[in-house]
Amino acid sequence: TNAPIVDPFGRSISYLRVSVTDRCDFRCTYCMAENMNFLPKKDLLTLEELDRLCSAFIAKGVRKLRLTGGEPLVRKNIMFLMRNLARHLDGGGLDELTLTTNGSQLARFAGELADCGVRRINVSLDTLDPRKFAEITRWGDFAKVMEGIDAARKAGIRVKINAVALKDFNEDEIADLLRYAHGNGMDLTLIETMPMGETGEDRTDRYLPLSTVRQRLETQFTLSDIPYRTGGPARYVEVKETGGRLGFITPLTHNFCESCNRVRLTCTGTLYMCLGQEDAADLRAALRASDDDTLLAAAIDEAISRKPKGHDFVIDRDHRRPAVARHMSVTGG
Ligand code: GTP
Ligand code: 5AD
Ligand code: SF4
Repeated sequence: TNAPIVDPFGRSISYLRVSVTDRCDFRCTYCMAENMNFLPKKDLLTLEELDRLCSAFIAKGVRKLRLTGGEPLVRKNIMFLMRNLARHLDGGGLDELTLTTNGSQLARFAGELADCGVRRINVSLDTLDPRKFAEITRWGDFAKVMEGIDAARKAGIRVKINAVALKDFNEDEIADLLRYAHGNGMDLTLIETMPMGETGEDRTDRYLPLSTVRQRLETQFTLSDIPYRTGGPARYVEVKETGGRLGFITPLTHNFCESCNRVRLTCTGTLYMCLGQEDAADLRAALRASDDDTLLAAAIDEAISRKPKGHDFVIDRDHRRPAVARHMSVTGG
């Protein structure tokens, strides 16, 4: 296996996030507008092309691969890609093959995912109230997601719950989410809402700094910082009362750009070097120019040599427009 590429700021790029579709069967209000214009299907890379791109990154030292979306499990025949990517596990260069999902299709796919060598997955769940769940996702079925989480756990996959902390929506439910996750042996990570793409709501109104959430939790729970890391951006604490792990993803209050190890690929073959920046590289041209990967490898090197120092996100009253115009679903977070 090859050593990861090092960017201009000395950061090793070992984590590739791949948005396999910009589509989703939900429309979380902080993520998407109700009426989204999705890409025409003809613009998508084929699953074979996505495999070739992922494999080129693995040859460049990527060790952790996460499929995202949109919702990755709504991409047609996605298990074909998963099964093929699984060949890189167990000595093939890849340490982890995983995905971030809304859970809606998980009951159907959990067994196959486990067979592909997926050992842990992240499931987005912002509330435990079915009515509020339908509100935040605009029409999502809470029971279906619960069924999906159970199916994954029964298949032997560890589940981490992701919850975006939202003012006047779930701020009074964080302790319940913690008890639910930890009570069922799952980690929980809380996420600060990031200003990406027009969604029809002003994120300034919904923004809740996790420094505040942590202070509030500390009136009920004993939190101690722990060095546990997954290769993702969360910083973890252990909760004494539950014995579980709680992660904080704080792009706004305490950014983690200096330890960034990731780049993100879209379903059209565009590589974004940072979630919170517009700069991107077109890998599709290099991919399609030749069956040989030499051009592609050079295009990857060139792109990573442009990785910026940090993101452009700001949330305050003077910045009501999203800092980044594209939606989260283009690059999958
Ligand atoms: P683990 O492997 O479990 O650590 O997962 P992860 O946190 O890397 O992935 P996940 O898809 O669960 O992402 C959780 C949140 O972190 C999402 O809201 C992502 O948008 C956000 N996130 C992941 N990477 C970055 C990053 O480089 N910058 C910023 N600002 N947010 C990120
Ligand atoms: N800010 C923060 N997190 C977001 N997610 C989607 N949109 C946003 C946003 N604007 C989260 C989802 C999912 C993860 C991939 O990103 O809830 O858990
Ligand atoms: Fe879909 Fe996830 Fe965006 Fe919700 S946050 S609309 S589940 S991609």
